[in-house]
Amino acid sequence: MIKVPDPEVYRAAAALLHQGEVVAFPTETVYGLGADATNDRAAARIFETKGRPSFNPLIVHFEDLAAADQEVDVNSRAEALAEAFWPGPLTLVLPRRPESRISLLCSAGLPTLAVRVPRHEIGQNLLRTAQRPLAAPSANASGKISPTSAAHVAASLGNRVPMILDGGDCEVGLESTVVDLSGVQPVVLRPGGITREQLEAVLGPIAEAGADSDIKSPGMLTSHYAPALPIRLNAREVGQSEALLAFGPNPIEGAAVTKNLSPDGDLGEAAARLFGLLHLLDKETVEAIAVMPLPEVGLGIAINDRLRRAAAPRAHTKER
Ligand code: TXA
Ligand code: MG
Repeated sequence: MIKVPDPEVYRAAAALLHQGEVVAFPTETVYGLGADATNDRAAARIFETKGRPSFNPLIVHFEDLAAADQEVDVNSRAEALAEAFWPGPLTLVLPRRPESRISLLCSAGLPTLAVRVPRHEIGQNLLRTAQRPLAAPSANASGKISPTSAAHVAASLGNRVPMILDGGDCEVGLESTVVDLSGVQPVVLRPGGITREQLEAVLGPIAEAGADSDIKSPGMLTSHYAPALPIRLNAREVGQSEALLAFGPNPIEGAAVTKNLSPDGDLGEAAARLFGLLHLLDKETVEAIAVMPLPEVGLGIAINDRLRRAAAPRAHTKER
């Protein structure tokens, strides 16, 4: 349902967000598919709605720097860039605070979080009315180009989104620039609405992501999260020296410790709990984490994608 926002519409949108639903809204870059970033199930709904085959990390939107500062460690470079370009088309990747309430799904298991303060009036009003940080990737079906009008969103996601806030055409029309400030040197992960020259005017020269960087492209980042313990997939039996990540009402027996992604066999719940439970089991003194099979349908496709990445050989994976 496309809505031109007024105070009533903002309240209805906020109510949907509080219920864990998704709402599409305009930013100055592209339309985002927003959900309450502090709610695991809501974050999982984003992947479900987009039909994303893998859990890419999500940008979390805040009304101002002070709100973002509660969730990530804002270092001096981040402060300088925020001062210069927020609100605006710039996203900063920063270390999560240990006490952060943001769903681990937004970080796709990484120790970092991408944060942004958009300047579009409708995005701002929605953030203020909902009083929640909003996780929002571009509001298009996975693999399609980013939407720059409410009609694009409707064409791509249509009846899968209960509400689309209409703000006309996006002013920038290109996604935000993503800068990783979590390492020793700043790295531009994605060129976008703020140019390299603009960034360098604040930070000084920025090295190309390349030779001495372990980040070659944002896509590669999704392969970075891997537990320290070996992962054994499609487990149909389990040993005493293993931890078990179970799924469904009949977990196999015999593991040293068992955590169930969803005793009801609900893939949305499993997606929401995946990274948290992997982190938890990874702390156990066992030889491996065995994982029961999950169906390769719906969110199961994204969950299995992440599990396969977590289980892949680590030889080329560097610590960050
Ligand atoms: O303009 C935009 O950025 C739009 C509006 C809605 O804010 N959002 C957007 O989100 O383009 P999405 O999900 O389509 O792209 C997010 C980009 C991806 O390249 C992702 O890999 C990167 O940001 N990203 C998110 N979190 C990250 C993290 N913790 N570390 C590294 N890269 C991250
Ligand atoms: Mg996108």
